Amino acid sequence: MERRWSVNSGSVPHEAAAQSSARGPMSNDEVYAAGLLNRALDPATQPPEIRSYLQAEIELLNGTIVHGMAVIDVGCGTGRHLAMFRDRLRLGVGVDYEHTYVVEARRRAGARRLHFITGDATAVPIGASFDLATCMTNTWGTMSDKAGVLNEMRRLAPRPRTRLLSVYGEASVLPRREWYHRLGHPVVEESSESLMTEGGFRSEHFSEARLRSLVGDCLIHPLAGIAYLVKF
Ligand SMILES: C[S@@+](CC[C@H](N)C(=O)[O-])C[C@H]1O[C@@H](n2cnc3c(N)ncnc32)[C@H](O)[C@@H]1O
Repeated sequence: MERRWSVNSGSVPHEAAAQSSARGPMSNDEVYAAGLLNRALDPATQPPEIRSYLQAEIELLNGTIVHGMAVIDVGCGTGRHLAMFRDRLRLGVGVDYEHTYVVEARRRAGARRLHFITGDATAVPIGASFDLATCMTNTWGTMSDKAGVLNEMRRLAPRPRTRLLSVYGEASVLPRREWYHRLGHPVVEESSESLMTEGGFRSEHFSEARLRSLVGDCLIHPLAGIAYLVKF
């Protein structure tokens, strides 16, 4: 059972939060459309625990992606993970529903081997199979149809291929509260499963037991003290 309580918020400098108070809270897709990801990826906004987590993800991908792989990243944002390992990839495809991120990903990637598609992670318009499907940086924890995303990842990288989720654990709450505050999205509601910010951004975190109940058969490894890597 989810515990939930509200928290008084301070002043909100960011325009997204100002918009939300005028029109009611925004949804996650509207918050992303207002550019949250670009500010969040600026290391200056990141508490040290978050920076360590982002670095641990990169090291994990570095040890997983081998030469010649075909990789699909759902909720790819501006495509940073695929871009980092592009020289090893036979094919890299990123999918994100925020078109401005996809445009930026294409601009950064150049022409060869990487492709970025604007689309929903629950209905990816691709029939091909990949060696690896990823959903990084708690992207899955911001998605509403979690089972739909897992089903698409299973379809796109069927066993014995690899599917990876990287998600926040409960120990992430304090550094995330600080990070979101720095991003102009102070947390106004906290529960045992999620944080909700004044700007309307909702981000979940997970216990191992909840991950097993949502994902089913999987391997779960702690990541950087505040997160989990899930192989399913
Ligand atoms: C936390 S950001 C991470 C982006 C990227 N993976 C990274 O680590 O830089 C989550 C991303 O997922 C995208 N997203 C959220 N829900 C989505 C969905 N249902 N389908 C496609 N993209 C989605 C957002 O637009 C955003 O770019």
